[in-house]
Amino acid sequence: MVYAEAKRIMIAYENKQGSIQSLIAQSKSQHKNSLTCLIMKTMSYKKLLNKIIKKSKMLENEKFLGDKLAQLLVYDVLFGMGVRGKFKSAVKRNYQSLTEACDYYMKKYQVDKRENLLKIFDEKQFYSNNSSIKPKYIYINQLKQKKKEIIGKLSEDSFQKVEYDRKSENFTKSNEEYKNLINSLKENEFIKDNHVKNLIIFKHDSIMNKNYNLFADGHLLQIDKSSCLVPLALNPEKDSHVIDGASAPGNKTILISNILKNTGLIHAFDIDETRVKLMQNNLKQHHVMNVRLKCMDFLQTEIYKYDRVSHIMLDVPCSGSGMTNRMKFGDTDLENVKDDKRLWKLEALQRRMLLHAMSFQNVTRIVYSTCSIHQEENENVIRYALKNCDERFKLINLFADKWNYGRGICTDEKDANDLHLDYCIRTSFDSNFTNGFFIACFELNRNNDLETSPEESQLIEN
Ligand SMILES: C[S@@+](CC[C@H](N)C(=O)[O-])C[C@H]1O[C@@H](n2cnc3c(N)ncnc32)[C@H](O)[C@@H]1O
Repeated sequence: MVYAEAKRIMIAYENKQGSIQSLIAQSKSQHKNSLTCLIMKTMSYKKLLNKIIKKSKMLENEKFLGDKLAQLLVYDVLFGMGVRGKFKSAVKRNYQSLTEACDYYMKKYQVDKRENLLKIFDEKQFYSNNSSIKPKYIYINQLKQKKKEIIGKLSEDSFQKVEYDRKSENFTKSNEEYKNLINSLKENEFIKDNHVKNLIIFKHDSIMNKNYNLFADGHLLQIDKSSCLVPLALNPEKDSHVIDGASAPGNKTILISNILKNTGLIHAFDIDETRVKLMQNNLKQHHVMNVRLKCMDFLQTEIYKYDRVSHIMLDVPCSGSGMTNRMKFGDTDLENVKDDKRLWKLEALQRRMLLHAMSFQNVTRIVYSTCSIHQEENENVIRYALKNCDERFKLINLFADKWNYGRGICTDEKDANDLHLDYCIRTSFDSNFTNGFFIACFELNRNNDLETSPEESQLIEN
C-alpha cells in the first residue's frame, strides 16, 4: 500500500497538484512518516536509481511497474528497509541484476559502501545533507501531567536533556550555530527550544518517535515550532472565551487549551467532517476539556451568539506552500509552481474569513496565520483587512525585538508606514529551521488611537 500511495503522490506532485508535504498531509495513509521518508529519499536519488534500473533491465522484465514504482522499490531493496507486500516477488526476480548494477556503479564511482554511493548522488540533488531536514519539535502537553513529571519520565526512559546557554548571542543571533547545536544531538538527546516554552527539540533521526508511549498517553505532541507561535501570539488570559475558526485537526487548539489551563471556553469550528472527527479524538487523547467543537463553516457563525468571545485564532485554509522546507525538486523552484487560479480563490476566502472575525463585537485580539509563503495569502490579505475594518483593528508588533528573523514583506513605502506590515512575522526553514509560516496579530484599536504600539507576548522567551 505504501508504494502505491507513494507513487500516487509523486505523480500528483509532478502534475503540480501541491507540494510533497501538503500532498502527504492530505493522504489517508496511516504510515505518513515512512511515506515521507520513502518519497524524499527516492526523489533525492532518482538519478542513481534510474541508472541502476536501466542497467539491470528490471523494467524490461517487469513492465507493469512503471518508472515511479520501480524507483521506489529499488530504493527500498538496495538502500532502505527492504521490500514487503505484493511487489516482493517482482523485486526478487530482479534482485541479482539489481545488486550487480549497484556494484557496477560502486566500482565506477570508487566507493566501498552503498551509502557512499548515495552520498555521491546526494550532492548533485537538492536534498544535500542532514542539515536540510527539519528536526522533530515536540510540545509538552501539560493538561494532565506537569512538565516536571513528563521530563522525569523522559529521563527514566534514557532521553537526555542537553543544556546550553539560551541567552547566548550565539543562539539568539546566529541560526547557523543553533542548527549546528541541533544537528550535533545524539539519537537520545534533546534541547529546550530557544523561544517557545514547553517545546523540546530532537534531531530528525532521533529514536524519539510517535510509537513512544508518552504520545499515546497524550503528554507529548509533535508540532512544528512555527505552529506553536500562533497560539502564543493569541495568548488569551485564563478563563477567556476564544474562537478557533479553522481548527481541525486541533493541534493549535491543544496549545490554546494549555495556555488557558483548560479553563474558559474554546469554540472550535471546521468545515470538514472527516477532519472534525479526527480532531475529536485528538482533543480527547490530549485531555482537552474546554472545547466546544462544531463541524460548520466559520463564515456562517452568527456573531450575536458569541458575545463573550475576546480572542479569535484564524489559521486559515491555504496553499500549504510553506510546508516544503527548503526543498526544490530538480530545477523546479516552488515559487514558480504556484497556481494563480487556486491562490486567487484562497485569497478571496481568507479575506472573507478575516473580515468576518473582525465583525465579532467584543473581540480584542485576532491572530491570522497561514503555512504559505505567498504574499497573496499573507500580506495582501492583511492589507485588505486593515483597509476595510473601519479602523477597528491595528497590527501589533508581534514578539517585537524577540523575533529578529523574518518579518512581513512590504514593498510599498506608504503601506509600510501606515499599515506596519513588518509587524507580522514570517518563519522559514533557512532562518528558523521550521516550516514557512506567516502570522499577523491584530488588536482592537481602543479609543481609535491609531498609533501602533509595540507589544509582545509574555510567553515567548529567549
Ligand atoms: C490550516 S488548517 C487548520 C489547522 C489547525 N488550525 C491545526 O492547527 O491543527 C485549515 C482548516 O480550515 C478548514 N476550513 C476551510 N474552510 C473553512 C471554513 N469556511 N470554515 C471553517 N473551516 C474551514 C479546513 O477544513 C482545514 O481543516
